[in-house]
Amino acid sequence: MKTIVVFALTLIFTQAVYSQKNIDPKDIREKMQWFADAKLGIFIHAGIYAVNGIDESWSFHNKKIGYADYMKQLSGFTLKKYDPAYWADLIRESGARYSVITTKHHDGVAMYDTHMGDLSIVKKSPARRDMIKPFFEELRKRNIKCGAYYSLIDWSDNNYPGFLKDSARYVVSKDYDRWNRFRKFFQGQISEINTLFKPDLWWFDGDWEHSGEEWEAQKVRSIILSGNPQAIINGRLQGWGDYETPEQNFPVSRPNFSWWELCMTSNDNWGFHHDNNWKTPYEVITIFVDVVSNGGNLLLDIGPREDGTIPEEQIHILKELGAWNRKHEESIFSTVGGLPQGHFYGPSTLSKDSTTLYLFLHGRQEGPVMIKGLKNKIEEVTVLGNGTKLQPKVVGKISWSPIPGLVYIDVPASAADKYVTVLKIKLDRPLSLYRGQGGLQ
Ligand code: GLC
Repeated sequence: MKTIVVFALTLIFTQAVYSQKNIDPKDIREKMQWFADAKLGIFIHAGIYAVNGIDESWSFHNKKIGYADYMKQLSGFTLKKYDPAYWADLIRESGARYSVITTKHHDGVAMYDTHMGDLSIVKKSPARRDMIKPFFEELRKRNIKCGAYYSLIDWSDNNYPGFLKDSARYVVSKDYDRWNRFRKFFQGQISEINTLFKPDLWWFDGDWEHSGEEWEAQKVRSIILSGNPQAIINGRLQGWGDYETPEQNFPVSRPNFSWWELCMTSNDNWGFHHDNNWKTPYEVITIFVDVVSNGGNLLLDIGPREDGTIPEEQIHILKELGAWNRKHEESIFSTVGGLPQGHFYGPSTLSKDSTTLYLFLHGRQEGPVMIKGLKNKIEEVTVLGNGTKLQPKVVGKISWSPIPGLVYIDVPASAADKYVTVLKIKLDRPLSLYRGQGGLQ
């Protein structure tokens, strides 16, 4: 019943959003299916900011460094050890099904050979090469979907009105000709990237600086979809995207979106930085599980150095995450969000037909775990990736009342995973929950 209600609400929500935009909700659900099943993506912030290890673009905008000094980093950007096949192997090893890379950040430096201007690592840095094409080729060989991050904001382009945090070049409403020149430029780059690389996913950023009318967001969407009809577009396009992108902070209650993705850094910065506040594999895995349990994806960021190498700590996180994913694959990939809050004190997921429930136990948890309000009969409980079978015990069931008892499952220490243990619970039929307030009926 609960599954049906959630499904109906999702449908109504999806229809409401997409009918405004003449997008057929059935088509959109088909288009979004690989994304809904993917669960994990790897975000890559590659840029000249890695040379000094400073904030990506924001460092000059916020005046931590002068613009000229910021741009001097171009001459230190070499990519001399760039190995896109290794990157793609590592991403595959992590278990991720897609990856999103910066084609241009707010600093305006294109990471590919743009023909719309000169500011690119191809024309202005010793790297002298396009980073994007070889990376996408390697991803595609491994069946990993390719995403292009593109900043709408371009603080370097002379026709872009914003520049430093407290100074603007001009006001759009007072000089529409100039703004139109910028629109031609950025929309030209979008067409170019769309044709050159055919991204499976577009990840816009910076839409907050202008309205949908000013960006011509609807037109941007149609430029992309006319050349690349199956492309997915993230939500940072003033209402013209396909899914929501909460950033860094985990939502406490389950987000009310059809599709969403938490983007998160592996330390506290997007690009390569002198920052040792690394998240541990345990933290990353528990956050990942929490996201998936709430029906979302995790887009986990790494920031390579200017020579194209990836910091060891990030490699370690990706490998540990990958090993955990391989052991627990069926509980994560191609599942749907789990039990609503209150039935189990922890994350959970469900098979698409909701006849299998997966419970996630943080840390080296042992002893009894408990499920409330489960009307189903349990056919079997196993510890995933370990094979141990456990015996559930039903407590407090009144024989003549339809209200279910509490299910206790005792987990032995020997079954615990070093990060997150997963219990697989095979149900007798699709999940059915009691949501009432107790009492005798
Ligand atoms: C923010 C920042 C940007 C970063 C992005 C990633 O929007 O402006 O620097 O690339 O988050 O989500």
